[in-house]
Amino acid sequence: MSLYALYPSLVKPLIFLLEPEQAHHFTIKLGRILGTKPLLSLFGQKVEPRPVEVMGLKFKNPLGLAAGMDKNGEAIDYLGALGFGHLELGTVTPKPQPGNPQPRMFRIKAARGLINRMGFNNLGVDFLVQNLLKRSYDGIIGVSIGKNEATPLEKALDDYLICLGKVYAHCDYVAVNVSCPNTPGLTALQEAEPMEHLISGIKQEQLKLAASTHRYVPLVVKIAPDLTKPQLQALCEICLKHQIDGITCTNTTVRRDMISGMEHASEWGGLSGQPLKALSTQVLQQVHEMVGDKIPLIGVGGIDGPVAAREKLAAGAQLLQLYSSFVYQGPQVIQQVVENL
Ligand SMILES: Cc1cc2nc3c(=O)[nH]c(=O)nc-3n(C[C@H](O)[C@H](O)[C@H](O)COP(=O)(O)O)c2cc1C
Repeated sequence: MSLYALYPSLVKPLIFLLEPEQAHHFTIKLGRILGTKPLLSLFGQKVEPRPVEVMGLKFKNPLGLAAGMDKNGEAIDYLGALGFGHLELGTVTPKPQPGNPQPRMFRIKAARGLINRMGFNNLGVDFLVQNLLKRSYDGIIGVSIGKNEATPLEKALDDYLICLGKVYAHCDYVAVNVSCPNTPGLTALQEAEPMEHLISGIKQEQLKLAASTHRYVPLVVKIAPDLTKPQLQALCEICLKHQIDGITCTNTTVRRDMISGMEHASEWGGLSGQPLKALSTQVLQQVHEMVGDKIPLIGVGGIDGPVAAREKLAAGAQLLQLYSSFVYQGPQVIQQVVENL
């Protein structure tokens, strides 16, 4: 029996005594300790290989950790040892920023969901790069990049380019986050005109970096589940035109109908976990219809076991990610998903 089979009955009740954000910081701190050499062999988790090749990268399995859990790359070696096929770190911004006032993370226990309005709290891209340089984990790493809250939307491209330039040499793919609902105005970057400007600028820089470093690092765009069909269509056309390497469907939703009446349902922010599952799978399917097999898709939103994972694959995903089910079920969810694909 895996050590982590005890998580739901022993560890989770204790962790859930803490406020959600405290629990998060505790987990990352613990991850930093467990990620050191002698402990890593005890606390790592063996997961059978299910290799896949996507975006020209070789993943040991299709399931990754979604962005937002390890924003600063502080627990890379521990998280990497739990059996994920990739880790998406970040979202990072050029300068450190505190994010929104607390409390800003809520458990919707009755629905196994979370609401967060963290607002890109992070220690800045340079801090993340230092941690990337120190890592011993040799699996696939994506870095999610964003803009500082203080940067006006018209200057957003500058922030993305600063982050792209700094992380390019140290990761395997870069995810462009334009879909976080908690940074004022950010999701407006998904509208056709700002999106065209942003994506063409980032793509040009990627090609320059690829030429100067002789290494092509794929670009992924992460989208919201709250776009209309025409908005999705326009966005997909821009991704196709600029030969974006992957699209992640989806970030958290601002909708609340799926948890109406439940505790914390009226908190503002992005909803994730089980209540997001059907919506994000629907968006994934729509994007798949729009881009066909021309752009690989990463399915994320409510993956809590093999059934949900298979639904995402059937809807067109080649890679998968999770966050909320890790909070509710612990590391064993990785093994359960991957080994039952
Ligand atoms: C507390 C929290 C923080 C998050 N921060 C980020 C982030 O910084 N960047 C990002 O792209 N997504 C972020 N997300 C969204 C997740 O990466 C993911 O898209 C979403 O939670 C849906 O997956 P899930 O249902 O498996 O949690 C965050 C989610 C949570 C719960």
